Amino acid sequence: MIVGLSPGDGPVRIMTEATALFDEEELRTLLQRQSFGHPLYFFKTIASTNDYARELAARDSPEGTLVISEEQTAGRGRMGNSWISPPGTGIWISLILRPPLPPSQGPLITPMTAVAVAGAIRKVTGLSAGIKWPNDIIINNRKAAGILIESSAGERSIKHLIVGIGINVNTEVFPEEIRESATSLSICSGKKISRMEILISVIRQLERLYSIVIPGGKPRIILERYRSWSVTLGKMITADRAGGKITARALDITPNGGLLVQDQTGITEELISGEIQNLIFPSGK
Ligand code: BTN
Repeated sequence: MIVGLSPGDGPVRIMTEATALFDEEELRTLLQRQSFGHPLYFFKTIASTNDYARELAARDSPEGTLVISEEQTAGRGRMGNSWISPPGTGIWISLILRPPLPPSQGPLITPMTAVAVAGAIRKVTGLSAGIKWPNDIIINNRKAAGILIESSAGERSIKHLIVGIGINVNTEVFPEEIRESATSLSICSGKKISRMEILISVIRQLERLYSIVIPGGKPRIILERYRSWSVTLGKMITADRAGGKITARALDITPNGGLLVQDQTGITEELISGEIQNLIFPSGK
C-alpha cells in the first residue's frame, strides 16, 4: 500500500496491516529517511519507555534516540497516574531531545509535542483531534493520547528532555476506571488505523516543529496552531494550584505555553503547569 502522509512529505511505502504488530525491519527502513529515531531501541515489552530513555540519556545517548515498545507493564502518565499500554494496540514511545535552549524556554516543547501528535492524528485519520491544556489529545470529548515530558536541566541549559508519547490507536476496551474518559483512534473513526502510519507521521511532525522551536525559529507559528486546536480556550476550568483551587475562564496560551486564566472577580493569572479540569469533560480527564 502506498500512503502519502502529508503534502511535501512524499509517499511512504507502509506494508504492515493496521492490526499487526510492528515490523521492526520495516520501521528501521522507514526511519532511515528521518533524523529522529537514531539509535532506535525496539522492545516487545518493557516497564516504561520513559524510564529506559532516561537511563540512556544519563549515559549520553544522543538527541533523536527513540525507544518504542509494543507493551508497557508500568507505563507512567502525568501527575503520578499510570498509563495503560497493552500490546499491539497503541503507540508507546520516548524520544530524547537535547534542545540548545535556556531552561526558561524548555516548556515550549510541551505545546510543540501536542501540536505534532494532534497534527499527525488529523493528517492520517482526518479526525478532529483537539488539545486540552497542557497536552492531552482529545477527540469527541475523550482522551486519545497523552504526553509526559521529563527534563534534566542545569542553571543555564537543558541537559535533556524525555518526550514520552502514548496514543490509543486500536484500543477497543478500556479498564473500568478510564472507560468514561478514554477513547482510541479506531473507536472514533470506526475502523482499524495503521500504527506505523501514525508513528511515522508523529516523528515527521516532531522533526519539523522542533526545527522551528530551536533558536532562530518562529515558535509563534506553533502557538497559533495550538490555540486553533485548543479545546480549553474560552471554557470555564478548575485547577488546583499552589494558592488553592481556582475556577476561571481560559483566555489564552502565553508565549511559553502557559495558560492565562481570569477568575470571577476579573483577576488574571498564568498557570504554568499542572492539571486542569475542563468543565465540559464528564470525568475531568
Ligand atoms: C498522560 O498522563 O497524559 C501522559 C501519558 C504518557 C504515556 C507515555 S507512553 C510512552 C511513555 N512511557 C511512559 O511510561 N509514559 C509515556
